Amino acid sequence: MKYEDFEQLKEECSKCNKCSLGSTRTNVVFGVGNESADIMFVGEGPGENEDLQGEPFVGKAGQLLDKYLQVIGLDRKSNIYIANIVKCRPPGNRDPESGEQDACIEWLRCQTRLIKPKIIVCLGRIAAQKLISEDFRVTRQHGEFIKKGNILFMGTFHPAALLRNPSNKPDALSDFQALRDKAEELNIKI
Ligand code: URA
Repeated sequence: MKYEDFEQLKEECSKCNKCSLGSTRTNVVFGVGNESADIMFVGEGPGENEDLQGEPFVGKAGQLLDKYLQVIGLDRKSNIYIANIVKCRPPGNRDPESGEQDACIEWLRCQTRLIKPKIIVCLGRIAAQKLISEDFRVTRQHGEFIKKGNILFMGTFHPAALLRNPSNKPDALSDFQALRDKAEELNIKI
């Protein structure tokens, strides 16, 4: 399906019942940010706070993400866009199943077609394996830029994983610094 604008896409997505997550959600968590951003971030799926507030990454992991963004001059409301692989909360914060990801991914594709980002950062394994490659290993491949079509993809640690395992924080910071350098190289204004 082709959508002409974001509002139409958002409206259609808010009624989605393509998978069973639609029956347990409070809100569809569509995305947040600048709809013509050059840099997009994609997480896994909404947690409890996101489900209640209808915005991605608003819990503890989101606060950590905001800190990393701030270090390199990015801000969720002004110069990036943030979305997830699935737009409805998997109950109990389990990983989204592959059938749920497949049911939802077309919404993200439509969003990406309208936003036309130059760089997509995958936050964590689920997003990286869905968008970059099935066998993506965050610990081995984080921070690498991989061109697919017109878009450069990079996978890094999920902020919730960094909260569980702070020893990866310096590597995550290097990935964000690499992102800033790449943006500069591509003349992306931050
Ligand atoms: N984790 C995610 O992957 N996405 C969110 O929106 C919140 C937590």
